[in-house]
Amino acid sequence: MLGSMSQRLTLSRAAHLLGISRVALQKRIREGELPSFDGMVTVDELQRGWPELNLEESGSFEKTREIREDAFARRLRERVLPTQEALAQRLFAQGQELAELQRTLTRYHTLFELIQVRLAASPPPAAEDIGRLLDEGMAQALGAPAPEHDMAALDAMLRVMSAHVTVRPSGREFFVEGSETLLKAALRAGLSPNYGCGNGVCGLCKARVVEGDVRTVSPSDYRFTEAEKAQDHVLMCACTALSSDLVLEVLEAGAPEDIPEQRIVAKVRSIEVLSDDVMRLHLQTPRSNRLRFLAGQRVTLGVSADVAGGSDLHGELPVASCPCDDRNLIFHVSRAHSRPASADFSRYVFDGKAKPGDEVSVWGPWGRFVLEEGSPRPLVFIAIDTGFAPINSLLEHAMAVDAAETITLYWASSRPGGQYLPKQCRAWEEALDEFSYQALAVDELPAALAAHSALPGCDVYLAGAAEQVEQLATALLAAGVPPQQLHVESL
Ligand code: FES
Repeated sequence: MLGSMSQRLTLSRAAHLLGISRVALQKRIREGELPSFDGMVTVDELQRGWPELNLEESGSFEKTREIREDAFARRLRERVLPTQEALAQRLFAQGQELAELQRTLTRYHTLFELIQVRLAASPPPAAEDIGRLLDEGMAQALGAPAPEHDMAALDAMLRVMSAHVTVRPSGREFFVEGSETLLKAALRAGLSPNYGCGNGVCGLCKARVVEGDVRTVSPSDYRFTEAEKAQDHVLMCACTALSSDLVLEVLEAGAPEDIPEQRIVAKVRSIEVLSDDVMRLHLQTPRSNRLRFLAGQRVTLGVSADVAGGSDLHGELPVASCPCDDRNLIFHVSRAHSRPASADFSRYVFDGKAKPGDEVSVWGPWGRFVLEEGSPRPLVFIAIDTGFAPINSLLEHAMAVDAAETITLYWASSRPGGQYLPKQCRAWEEALDEFSYQALAVDELPAALAAHSALPGCDVYLAGAAEQVEQLATALLAAGVPPQQLHVESL
């Protein structure tokens, strides 16, 4: 039974406080290591479960340390406010005082309940017994030492440093760090809110404030109607959270058809060799015209004859980066692109014609190779060669939204050591308990998958050259993976 007065936290808030994923916290609850009630946990139970946690070890605190120049307006920070470090320390000290008050109140409350029970007993206790109970209880309430690492104080401080936002009607949640915009924070957390320019002009990112307050942090040209003003509509791209808890009504994309087709002119930022056969192409969109897409989707890239030095070139490629960074689009361009229509574009990159500053048209997004959100099943990703590109986007998104309790990645290569980003995969494996990775040759893949006995209970995402993925998809279906759980992308 939870203590009636101990401060309660939602699972998202508790996971944020501990610097762990929500899925990891839910696992502890399921395994009986952490009591929960109505989807909430108490600060006291967290304190018991993580007695060693302190400020420096908290992942959340690390995040708040990363709040940089934009956390406070320069003028205010330099002339009026103390440094961010001093503010953080003072907040923590105040949080400790508040937490101590809360603990004392809890002890008084417990004492009061005890006396109520005793007075209701028959026969009623003697007056001197009640007096003794009061004396002992008061001494305990006032004399109990504070815990060495104060979880409640840490939570109080984090509530000031990062605001918690609940989105309606989906019920999804995200945190706003420093004074970043609501849009940026929502995208970083893997949400897909409706938006367009990202710049306060189009009005597509309108949201209604249901509870709490927001503050405008960047100017906008969009004019709300009187009705919208009366209903507390705000622009997510121009506002940050003022209250530590905020509830917003937001239009979100739930499926590819909710994302409009866009045409953007981006610029080549860099071209980098990943292996003999694969180049990393980094495009950057203008600030006021970013690409809205879902993780795993493709776009068409086009280069005009002027830039390509010959005729117009096109290619259809999956975006390898996450929609959370909608300005910076990464592509893994293969020398031997299996879509004939994309071969010209590969040559533009591999023949040294592409250079930083080139204008590249981006149309899209296309395709339905997107994460099935809300599925409780473990995730298995199978990438063959540059099939890793859309898988990388899905993986980053799955990690951002805490999508599954376990994530397994098989990356098969047609030639020895063809996994061109091995360090990144190893780093994920080291950093995340729920993530496991196997690099293997394409012909080793069937045996490795056959050894994965739980595969029919997983959501499986498979991407690679058409012929290879078709064969493998047939084998997976024969092995018992239900068709609705198998998602295939042919490059
Ligand atoms: S995205 Fe256009 S106004 Fe916010």
